[in-house]
Amino acid sequence: MNVSELEVRLGELADQAVAELAQVARKEDAIQVKNRYLGKKGVVQELMQVLPSLAHEDKRIAGQASNQCKSAIEQAYEGQLARLERDELARRMESERIDVTLPARRPPVRSGHPLRQVEEELIDIFAEMGFDVAEGPEIESDFYNFEALNFPPDHPARDMQDTFMLDDGRLLRTHTSPVQIRTMLGYAPPLRVISPGRVYRVDSDITHSPVFHQIEGLLVDTNVTFADLKGTLAHFAERCFGPGTPVRFRPSFFPFTEPSAEVDIGCIFCACKGCRVCSNTGWLEVLGSGMVDPNVFDAVGIDSKKYTGFAFGLGVERIAMLKLGINDIRLFFENDLRFLRQF
Ligand code: PHE
Repeated sequence: MNVSELEVRLGELADQAVAELAQVARKEDAIQVKNRYLGKKGVVQELMQVLPSLAHEDKRIAGQASNQCKSAIEQAYEGQLARLERDELARRMESERIDVTLPARRPPVRSGHPLRQVEEELIDIFAEMGFDVAEGPEIESDFYNFEALNFPPDHPARDMQDTFMLDDGRLLRTHTSPVQIRTMLGYAPPLRVISPGRVYRVDSDITHSPVFHQIEGLLVDTNVTFADLKGTLAHFAERCFGPGTPVRFRPSFFPFTEPSAEVDIGCIFCACKGCRVCSNTGWLEVLGSGMVDPNVFDAVGIDSKKYTGFAFGLGVERIAMLKLGINDIRLFFENDLRFLRQF
């Protein structure tokens, strides 16, 4: 074969390969065609085996012709691949139409912990009556948690509020009442605050948890009477448990209030008839309350001749259990999603 025959033959091969590539419908087939022509053992390579037998000048011409042939095939190959990809995209655009009018998938709506929900509801009720929110630390000194609240050292009233002590003599507060002291030391009357927060006691069963939540209330002004306390808490009971909820005040004792009263609401499960939840009494205890003891006013330097006030403290878990129908306080703290998702 001389060099002009070789040139012609290479031209033919290129035409042939370009035509074949234009026909293929799949990328794999295009690769195969390209390899058949341009691979190590491909037809172009095979044809070029005559190269050594050619004259020096002809070798150059043959090389050029072979390069032209190769690049024509390469080009056709690339072009066909691009065409196939475009066709594939067009086909998918046609078949996989997206309905842009479909509503987006919403993330599941989550709500706060049931205790937080109830806490907020209770805060809202007192906020409506003009109470501001005050907060205090969970680690307290004996002074704020007991002494200023008229618990003398070694007084038996401390026994009911056994708690966790820190090495430096401070303690985890057993109630939110220390915030009464902090508020009265920090601000002058008239005062109207509630104080939600975490408290601690050495106590654990189905209705007691070593950590639980209270909301404290404190109102100090001139001419505040027990009637104001009753009216405030009766209104609270109706807002919290529904219109017509009866309340009952039972004499009680707290070192920092005098007189003191436990407040019961008529059992919301049996309409005061008596059931298991209210131990057949028809009443449920929901909070402690009383008129601020003059000794407490003395401890914080408020003139007890001029001012009177009332205070109350309620357990958020207790109210949440009643409102939500929960029978074991520990459920609040186990973080079991099957429980939490119900609220
Ligand atoms: N601090 C009391 C308790 O935890 C409740 C209380 C608060 C009683 C305010 C009277 C007034 O038991």
